[in-house]
Parts: sequence; structure tokens; C-alpha cells
Amino acid sequence: MNQLARTAVEMVVTPRHHHRLEALGESGVIRRFVDSDELTDEERRRFVEILEGVWGSDPPWKQVGSDASGADYLDWESVDYPGEHFWELLELDGRLIGMQLHRYMDYRVRGNLRRTREGTLWAIDPSTQGRGIATAQHLATRGQRDADSDFLYDSAVPSHPTTVHLLEKYPQPWQDQYVANGLQILFRPLNLRRFLQGSEAPADATSGSTRVAIEAAAGIKPRPTAVRMAWWGNQMLRARIRPHRRPGRRSDIRLRTVMQFDDRVTALLDMVAPTFDVLQSRTPELLNWRYCDPRAGHFTVRVAEDGDRLLGYLVSKNNRGAQIADLLVLPGRLDVAAALLEDMIERSRAEGAHSVRFWVPRAHPYAELARSVFGFIPQRNAGGGQWAAWGATEGEFTFFTDPRARLHKMMGDGPHV
Ligand SMILES: CC(C)(COP(=O)(O)OP(=O)(O)OC[C@H]1O[C@@H](n2cnc3c(N)ncnc32)[C@H](O)[C@@H]1OP(=O)(O)O)[C@@H](O)C(=O)NCCC(=O)NCCS
Repeated sequence: MNQLARTAVEMVVTPRHHHRLEALGESGVIRRFVDSDELTDEERRRFVEILEGVWGSDPPWKQVGSDASGADYLDWESVDYPGEHFWELLELDGRLIGMQLHRYMDYRVRGNLRRTREGTLWAIDPSTQGRGIATAQHLATRGQRDADSDFLYDSAVPSHPTTVHLLEKYPQPWQDQYVANGLQILFRPLNLRRFLQGSEAPADATSGSTRVAIEAAAGIKPRPTAVRMAWWGNQMLRARIRPHRRPGRRSDIRLRTVMQFDDRVTALLDMVAPTFDVLQSRTPELLNWRYCDPRAGHFTVRVAEDGDRLLGYLVSKNNRGAQIADLLVLPGRLDVAAALLEDMIERSRAEGAHSVRFWVPRAHPYAELARSVFGFIPQRNAGGGQWAAWGATEGEFTFFTDPRARLHKMMGDGPHV
């Protein structure tokens, strides 16, 4: 972090000290921080109403392909999240007009357990939009850090038009801190024409990182379909003729679908963690909440085993195209990653998906494998990512400036799938 940033991030806020009330600038809005078990039924009903008002027929639970009701989906997102979290409520004249959910998440950072906080389900009732409430929210926390978290690791550079605009107008001290080994959005088209038609529709669980949003923010008009067909067709051809060698199998690999993660994933995490500078702490509780609860949408969990030994897993979803939410294998076992990827592509093709999408840091062994062996193509407007670190542990995070940093970050680590 540069000197300017160092001085700017001085104030410390602890928003999870619930029951805290504060006036939001001159907006007339009161912010209130509460735990999910303190929400009234009326507040929960109002959340659903606001989210439906904002997204119409495509609220967040539909975007992730969940069959759950709005109320059940919100319970999954908050009450049943296996970690600390809190709600930020926005009230105007005694009426709830907006909210955001904040969740703490553990990461393994070079052997140490560190925490970060992520926000999701940020929405303001359409009747009170455009009155500067989001601006007041932004200004209220600008240059501040959460005393209860150690760092910030956004999977994508903010691309929501409002956020982009606010950050330009009122920059954050860490604004220019892009992750040097940023996320690359890889696509493996299975049916090119349908893929290009499908990619016009929002494909993420938050509109903040879709290509459409990025292009809207940059004022770029999508290219005509014929031009895009030619570009992707050419990329696919080049991927096919590129010389590649598939990693040879090092042991028996049996693949099967499971309904739950078990304790073996802890051993896998312990073995994998030292080989990365940073990765989300993938406990069985977290993975079962994230991928094995139908309220989150319908994921498929494939495990790779040799006898009873867990060699790795791949989690995917087929929702507006197939998506790889998570992939993790034992260190050095790219043969296992290859078996899981091949299986996933074949299953997606059989299910009629138009493409497979994979978010992975640009310099990651799985990215190299996906590109060179399986013909995944990097999308031009890749998401990247941003970071910030503070407090006693700040020096630990300078690896984010290294383009070869060993980062493990996947789509399912955030709310995007
Ligand atoms: C995003 C949202 C929270 C913004 O809240 P808001 O209170 O209406 O925002 P503000 O009134 O403070 O406006 C913020 C600024 O962004 C600008 N802005 C808003 N939308 C914009 C857009 N599409 N492009 C460019 N700038 C935009 C506004 O003009 C304003 O800037 P200004 O003061 O310089 O004119 C609200 O619109 C919302 O709930 N949207 C739907 C849900 C959503 O998209 N959530 C976030 C992603 S998960």
C-alpha cells in the first residue's frame, strides 16, 4: 500500500457492533446494523419486496437458478451461513428502504488464518433510488476499514455503473491496487451460436461483474453477432491447433457424484493450503452450505477418489450456461484436475449447455491446463480483482502485487454463481 493510502485508511469502524444506529450524512436515512436472528418477519418480507422491486422477474434467487422462495433464499444467504455476518438496514422516515448483507470469510494466507468481509444483496427500493443514498453510504465508509477483518480481496474490479461512478468521483485509498495475478474469465463454447446469443443475457448472480455491465460502464456497444462469431471461431481454431500435452495419470482415479462433502476435504485443504499464498478456507461446513443446499441453486459435486482417498473435487452448475464454481485437487495432481475437467465438459455437453465458464487466476496451474488441453478461451474483458490490507498483518499481503502469486480464487468463493 502506498504512503497516501497508509495515511488515508486510518479510521476504524466495527459495523458488526449491532444495534448501532447512525444518520447517513444529509440523506435523512438511518443505518441500523443487526444480526439475522434479530430481524422481524416484517423486515424479512420487506427484503423480498425490495429485491423483487429492484430486479423484477429476475431476483437474486432466480439468477442463481434456485427454486426456493425469496424468504427461504434469504435464510440460506444469512441465517444459515456458517460464519459471522450482519445486515445493514437503511430506513427513511421509519420505513425500510434498503439493505446489504455483510459476511465474514476465513482465508488461509501463507499458513495463517485471516479474515475478510464481503457484501452482497445490496439494494435500495426503486422509489428512493437516485436521491443520493448509495452516495451517502459510500461516503460514510470511504477510507475506513473494518477492525474485524484483515484484508479485502474482491474477485472482480467493480463494474456496476453506480459503483464505477462513485469510485471515480470519490476514490478509495486502495483504488489502484489491482491484483497482479487477476482472475481470468475462461470460456469453452460448446455451441457457439447459442453461446453468443446466451451471453447477451445477465449470467452472474450479481450484475456487478457481468460483461454486459462492464461494457455498459465503458460505453461500448456489443459487437454484431457475425463479428463475434468470427472472433470466437478463430480463437477456438487456434486453441485446437495449439500443441498440448495432457498430464499422465499417476494413479487410479474414480469419479462420482456426492450429495455432501465429508471430513476428507479438511485433509485435502491442509495439503493444498501451503502451496498457495491465499485460498478461502474450504471447510466441510462452508462447502456444504455453499454447494449442497438446494436453496443456493443446483450444483453438482464430483469427487475424484483413489480407493477411500479424496484426490480432489469439482463443483459445477448448469444455469444459463455451465459454470465451474470450484475445483481443487491434491498438490501436483494435474492429472486429477484433467479428469474432473474432461468429465465436466462431457456432462455439460450432454445436458445441452452452450458453454462452460471458468473463473481462475491468470497464472494458475488449472488455468494453464484449461487453456492448453481443453481449449478454454480467455474472454477479452476479464474481471481482474482488487485488494487491500491493513493493520498488523498488512505486510503479509504484498504478494498481491506479484503477477505469479499463487492465488486460488474461484467463482464460488463469492456470490457470482
Ligand atoms: C445501485 C443502487 C444501490 C444505487 O443507489 P442510489 O441511492 O439510487 O444511488 P445514488 O442516488 O446515490 O446515485 C449514485 C451515483 O451514481 C450515478 N449512477 C447511478 N446509476 C448510474 C449508471 N447506470 N451509470 C452511471 N452513473 C450512475 C448517479 O447519477 C449518482 O451520481 P451523481 O450524484 O454524480 O449524479 C440502487 O440503484 C439499486 O438498488 N440498484 C439495483 C440493485 C443493484 O444493482 N445493486 C447493486 C449490485 S449487487
